Amino acid sequence: MKIPPVKGTRDFYPPDMAVRNWLIDGWKRVSARNGFEEYDGPIFEYLRMFQIKSGDEIVEQLFSLTDRGGRDLAIRPEITPTLARMVNQQINSLPRPIKWFSVPRLCRAERPQKGRLREFFQWNIDIIGVEDVLADAEVIFTACDYLEEVGLTPDDIVVKISSREMLAALLQTIGVAENELEPLYMVLDKRGKLPDDTFEQMLTKQVGDKNKRNKIMELMAVESIGQISDCLRLSETSKKSVDELGRLFELLDCFGVADFCVFDIGIVRGLAYYTGIVYEIYDKTSELRAIGGGGRYDNLLKQFGGPNIPATGFGIGDAVLEILLEEKGLLQKQLPARQPDYFVAFTDSQFFEKAVEITAKLRRAGLAASFSYKAGGLSKQLKQASDQNAQKCVIIGSEIENNELIIKDMATGKQELIELNEFFDKCKSEQR
Ligand code: HAM
Repeated sequence: MKIPPVKGTRDFYPPDMAVRNWLIDGWKRVSARNGFEEYDGPIFEYLRMFQIKSGDEIVEQLFSLTDRGGRDLAIRPEITPTLARMVNQQINSLPRPIKWFSVPRLCRAERPQKGRLREFFQWNIDIIGVEDVLADAEVIFTACDYLEEVGLTPDDIVVKISSREMLAALLQTIGVAENELEPLYMVLDKRGKLPDDTFEQMLTKQVGDKNKRNKIMELMAVESIGQISDCLRLSETSKKSVDELGRLFELLDCFGVADFCVFDIGIVRGLAYYTGIVYEIYDKTSELRAIGGGGRYDNLLKQFGGPNIPATGFGIGDAVLEILLEEKGLLQKQLPARQPDYFVAFTDSQFFEKAVEITAKLRRAGLAASFSYKAGGLSKQLKQASDQNAQKCVIIGSEIENNELIIKDMATGKQELIELNEFFDKCKSEQR
């Protein structure tokens, strides 16, 4: 009986694993150079942790289970609640600002589609303890720093930025009550993600008053920060958040990533805990789902029983990113070649054991070395060496009786005869 993989999951065969490792190595390298330290948490948590403040959408997508002790648990669909819990636990001893990153494996029971799976990896970058938009700018810079490193340019991707704080103030000016804001955000987040008529039906259900609805739609059509005041009279609170957005764009200019960033009032985010600046990263053609998203969540630590400490961060998934890099032809050429330093070949089966001995010695000296299991002819072994992309070949022949080897450079084809001990001394110095 053949058992297929579970819907929405991936098997990582060695070539897929090479891609995954390359992506994650890049995330780790860029995190480190931007001053972030790595953390991780458990793959499952108490179910209620995700029910507190992540929002209905993610709760509907939870893989949950009850353990033998009757505890309700869930596999993590995101790591932000875990981060809030972990930081709260050690808040008095952690030097601030806390700049942490993680690359968790996450599970969401979403309908599998292009770029959306039931199990995926997500790069998380978060700064905790900084109220200033400088932290939001640094987080956005870090995302751009990585995306640029893998070859994506402002022609390929765009970071769409807005502010929930500003939207809240503007919606309140229109007459939306404070307790109506959160459910309205969830509807507005669907604009552009669902067919227009489905979105309109959702909005009508949420906002009964036609005039209010029209005003909301007029506001959502604004294309620049400057246009907001043409559409609505700004309250003191909205002025403050409009100015804050303006400063964020100035800082992004300072960081040199302004070309990647645009203001987009339609960015609301689907998770319930965001409080201020919010952003999503898309491919420029908007054909794919979001590459990443994040924002400020100043109340989450407090809602998890901790102190009132501000926080901001983002998550970028591996799935859409991989599709985009593949489509742009940027993926395969950047993968590190699997390349043994040496392939140890032998001219006659009587030298097989010597080949194993030399291979082992090379490996113990820290070099990548391989050899053939089959005692085929030398030309077959050399073909195997070039298939494996070996840099050099050690050829063991009758010269070994005088303690000598032939070393063939696979790129130039040049061969040299070398004494065994001299060869290993050379290998050691190559290693250093
Ligand atoms: P999110 O928008 O739910 O945010 O996810 C961020 C990114 O994770 C998405 O843009 C996408 O690339 C990837 N992603 C999400 N769901 C899936 C899926 N089913 N399959 C494949 N990729 C997916 C968060 O998770 C926030 N916790 C991010 C954050 C960190 N905010 C502050 N700090």
